[in-house]
Amino acid sequence: MSRRIIPVADANALTVPRSAAGAASAPRGVLLDTLARPLRDLRISVTDRCNFRCVYCMPREVFDKDHPFLPHSALLTFEEIERLAKRFVAHGVEKIRLTGGEPLLRKNVEHLVERLATLTTPDGRPLDLTLTTNGSLLARKARSLKDAGLTRVTVSLDALDDALFRRMNDADFAVADVLEGIAAAEAVGLAPLKVNMVVKRGTNDAEILPLARHFRGSGIVLRFIEYMDVGTSNGWNMTEVLPSADVVSRIHAEFPLVPLEAHSAAETAQRWAYADGAGEIGVISSVTRAFCGTCTRARLSTEGKLYLCLFASAGYDLRALVRGDATDDDIDGAITHIWQGRADRYSQLRGSSAGQPPSGDGGRIEMSYIGG
Ligand code: GTP
Ligand code: 5AD
Ligand code: SF4
Ligand code: SF4
Repeated sequence: MSRRIIPVADANALTVPRSAAGAASAPRGVLLDTLARPLRDLRISVTDRCNFRCVYCMPREVFDKDHPFLPHSALLTFEEIERLAKRFVAHGVEKIRLTGGEPLLRKNVEHLVERLATLTTPDGRPLDLTLTTNGSLLARKARSLKDAGLTRVTVSLDALDDALFRRMNDADFAVADVLEGIAAAEAVGLAPLKVNMVVKRGTNDAEILPLARHFRGSGIVLRFIEYMDVGTSNGWNMTEVLPSADVVSRIHAEFPLVPLEAHSAAETAQRWAYADGAGEIGVISSVTRAFCGTCTRARLSTEGKLYLCLFASAGYDLRALVRGDATDDDIDGAITHIWQGRADRYSQLRGSSAGQPPSGDGGRIEMSYIGG
């Protein structure tokens, strides 16, 4: 099979149109895109590096020692991230998630959390400030993250079987390390804690029930993610996707489930409760049941490009603005212009083209570059 591999550090940069920067009357407050979706969530990638090599995300044969990770000078500084985050919050963002790569690999990431934790919505509410991690450094970092003002964390865990987990992360990390990180996060009150499992049919689907049994009754929300065709390097194939409906029916057969209402329309997961009161699970069905219609997420890459979709092939270069002489009004104008022009709905289009990438799909960015 031929794979198109794009060097992630060279992903196309879209230049912010001149007319947008400096728009004299950049409106503040909630922005709507061309499909009337508000801008509510900002996912900020703080590093493109990771100490895992998950087979579905950073396959070792692609992300090897010759892989061109970003040089330190390319990364947005914490000051630059804070400045941009403030502008996004002024435009309706209420939730910020730090991602990577592995965000806890970014040196002193707690200092960034401290800065972001001081931000409030225009009507004075604190943000939902969270982070997605592979858990390997969480035992060491949970306390300082909590003290810095992090609200909660989501930890990825694809198997309870140690040998299988090591094969999937392809970096010899043990399940026990991640469970220790989860326990540490719980102990300091980074709650509600969520655990994400990416389900690959034929690889780890036998782990669905062991994980469900393990986290039932713990207060931790286990979520099952359909394996996605994100990036171009994981060799994705529809036959390896286990539809969420099958996940639900497998669990339901052992532990009856009842559907729960969504917390909000923009939620990625469909929620189910154990009928016996032992807590809830979630399924994230971006392949079989796309949720683009309510997608309120913008993504800021490690080097300051703004992506409007997880499957985008190019991002808008906001770093050029913050490193140039742009004023806050200029940045507001750029965010307004970019979001108001947004029409992205990749998963929905793929869904209506029998699993094939929608036309115009030109070399998508990698998940490890933009975060989940
Ligand atoms: P909560 O706020 O805790 O519900 O988290 P979340 O679901 O917004 O974020 P999380 O990082 O836990 O997302 C879980 C997974 O859902 C990600 O790792 C992705 O695999 C997938 N996902 C999140 N956002 C999107 C999206 O906008 N599009 C698609 N296709 N998948 C997404
Ligand atoms: N499909 C679905 N989820 C993925 N993630 C990474 N790659 C994929 C993929 N191909 C998830 C990880 C983690 C988050 C960072 O993104 O499991 O929860
Ligand atoms: Fe690293 Fe997360 Fe990607 Fe695994 S899924 S390689 S832990 S960024
Ligand atoms: Fe949003 Fe793109 Fe995911 Fe659709 S595919 S939900 S538009 S990020």
